[in-house]
Amino acid sequence: MKKQIKNNVDWIGKIDWELESFHGADYSINHGSSQNAYLIREEKTVLIDTVWAPHSTEFVDNLAKEIDLNDIDFIVANHGEVDHSGSLPALLEKIPGTPVYCTANGVKSLVGQYHHPEWNFQVVKTGDSAEIGNGKKLIFVEMKMLHWPDSMATYLTEDNILFSNDAFGQHYAVEELFNDRADQCELWEEAIKYYANILNPFSALVKKKVEEIQALAVPIDIIATSHGAIWRDNPLQIVEKYYAWSQHYQEDQITIAYDTMWDGTKQLAHRIGAEIARLSPNTKVKIFNIAKINKNDIMTEVFKSKAIAVGSPTVGNNILSSVGGWLDFLKELKFKEKKAAVFGCYGWTGESPKILRERLTDAGFEVVEPEIKCNWNPGEEHFAKATEVAEALSQ
Ligand code: FEO
Repeated sequence: MKKQIKNNVDWIGKIDWELESFHGADYSINHGSSQNAYLIREEKTVLIDTVWAPHSTEFVDNLAKEIDLNDIDFIVANHGEVDHSGSLPALLEKIPGTPVYCTANGVKSLVGQYHHPEWNFQVVKTGDSAEIGNGKKLIFVEMKMLHWPDSMATYLTEDNILFSNDAFGQHYAVEELFNDRADQCELWEEAIKYYANILNPFSALVKKKVEEIQALAVPIDIIATSHGAIWRDNPLQIVEKYYAWSQHYQEDQITIAYDTMWDGTKQLAHRIGAEIARLSPNTKVKIFNIAKINKNDIMTEVFKSKAIAVGSPTVGNNILSSVGGWLDFLKELKFKEKKAAVFGCYGWTGESPKILRERLTDAGFEVVEPEIKCNWNPGEEHFAKATEVAEALSQ
């Protein structure tokens, strides 16, 4: 049901405490999530975004309990991805002809997905605005590639609310909606996970967009995201974080990720970790088995790291498929200015370090020279190599 955000602006979205994944199974969700839609009632009634199709009946029913649907003057579709546009077909079936404000790319996305070219699209671009009465207006800001070509934000004057859509959001369920009511550890962990796994490839654009928003110097009292907590307590703190995260962010952390067959490669992973901890006591060390720990959670740690080490045994003249798939995702996230090292055990051919080196170089990492290629199980000479790897990564 609706919850007040400020004055005549209400949240009318869906909090889904049971959601376990997003983008199919490509993004793991650990603490639920939400699709935030908003209803503005000034002289004009405006709906900002909708919710995912599985919740469309509930969404339209809830909306109809609040207002006569025919009173909606227009809908703003900040983004065509299905989690925000999924209820448009059900809603527009009831109020056909209602204007839908979106970017030119938004039209392509919505028509491509729902095949309703007859919808009353009103194309907007950065700086365009719509009067909604009582001295207030909505100003549109294109957010191209943050994170889709059609993405857009909408700013409500006087109330100073930025409806930012995906930007600044988190896949995180907050029953009380606001950032000051959320568990702060979980909130920031989910915010950085969202950035690392969804926005990091577009960091250069994030930096530019944040500078553009700051240059506008408009007051922002609330950042009303489309997922997770709504930022009302010091809302610019998340903008400042995004600015830091967009500039090859790293902490004094090294992450070791591996898979193993008979624990030889696992032993190497832990020896490298122990040696980093010994040589560089201030460095945080995290060690993950790629086959057992969710890839999005590991990537969040990679995002925070200044260096990583990746290990796989050789199998069938290749690396383990778990590591191969993980490296595909790693490349997709376009991390920059991070070092990497490689290691792995083998029985008879031993290609894995070479393949890992090639794959990590291709993914944009600076792969250091020392590596561990271990025939059968590790012994003292391989553990000595682990010291060299730890030194090269810690520098
Ligand atoms: Fe929340 Fe890009 O969809």
